[in-house]
Order: sequence, then structure tokens, then C-alpha cells
Amino acid sequence: MRVAIFSSGTGTNFEAIADNKDLKKAGLVISCVITDNPLAKVIEKSKARGIETIVIDKSEYKTKKEYEETIYEYLKQLNVEYIILAGYMRIVGDTLLNKYPQRIINIHPAMLPSFPGAHGIRDAFDAKVKQTGVTVHFIDSGIDTGPIIDQVAVPILPTDTIEDLEERIHIQEHLLYPHVLNQLINKMRSNNL
Ligand code: GAR
Repeated sequence: MRVAIFSSGTGTNFEAIADNKDLKKAGLVISCVITDNPLAKVIEKSKARGIETIVIDKSEYKTKKEYEETIYEYLKQLNVEYIILAGYMRIVGDTLLNKYPQRIINIHPAMLPSFPGAHGIRDAFDAKVKQTGVTVHFIDSGIDTGPIIDQVAVPILPTDTIEDLEERIHIQEHLLYPHVLNQLINKMRSNNL
């Protein structure tokens, strides 16, 4: 399965996927990493692993359509089958959604449908709920909507600082995302048999 990983920032989920030996064995190929942020830390992490790293600065495009058409040209050239959003902090538009129906996967740091949006961890923490989580889902045109593939609960302890919670969420993300991708590859394989 040939994938592109989209990331706008630190890239720890990218690392968890790229360094997962089971995924490599199962046939996951990271064709490229695409970032909209020229300063993203993921750039050096991706290059260090010898992966084609493409920076497409949204501010250089007049419309989301033109921006996504540029992205699509790369994806087409590289025969990308699935898009893996890993900390990509933009709403994916119709251009990519139409080219990759049910083939764009996202990870969100909360138990969707609770706490969608750019601040899933902080919003759950501020709401003082006892439990939040991590969700992997296919995307649609909404914000963190779309069919849920898998979720894991993460408790919020009374003594937690926001940093404690962030750390606990990230640990679960780095386990869940590779696990879900592995399942997906296995499912695709058994459907082909
Ligand atoms: C992750 O926690 C991911 O769930 C979140 O951004 C972080 C990226 O971290 N994504 C969203 O909030 C999307 N709505 P990373 O760059 O270290 O993988």
C-alpha cells in the first residue's frame, strides 16, 4: 500500500508509522511526506529516513483548489493510494476528497464525536471530563467527522496537568495509528484473495 503522510508540525505520528517494522513487513510504503509548513520539524525527520519530502506552502496559492491540485500532481506521479493525515492542521478540500474517496485517514487526539477541531486535548482537559481518547477515522468534508475506524480511551486523572494528558494521548496515538494501518492492509489483502 503506497501512502503519502501529510503533517504540519512535529511529526511524532509520522515517526511511529515510518519506524514500525510490522507495517513495513506488511507492505506499507511511504511514497512521500507532504507538509504545508516550511518550518515543520517533520521535514528533517522525513529526510533523515530518505523519504521524499515535499513542502507546499499554502500561502503561495490563491485558492485551496490550486493548492490541492498541486498536491495531487505529486500524489499521481508517485502512485499514492492512501493519504494518511498525521497532524495535518488544514481542512482537506473537495479536490483531494474527490480524488481519494474513503482513502484519506486522520488521527484525532480525542474521543470523537467529542472535542473535534484544532485543540482536542486542551478542550477535553478544560471541560474536566474524566475520560478522553484517540480516534482514527476516514475523513469527509466536515471537521473531524467521517466514519470512525478505531478508538482508544484515555483517562484524565484529577492530578493531571495538560502536559501529563498530552503525553498519555501521544503514547496511545503512536500505538493506535500503526495498528489501524496494519489492520487496513490485512483487510485489503484478504479482500483481494
Ligand atoms: C497529534 O496529536 C494529532 O492527533 C493532532 O496533532 C498532533 C500532531 O502531532 N491532530 C489534530 O489535532 C487534528 N485535528 P505530531 O506532529 O507529533 O504527529
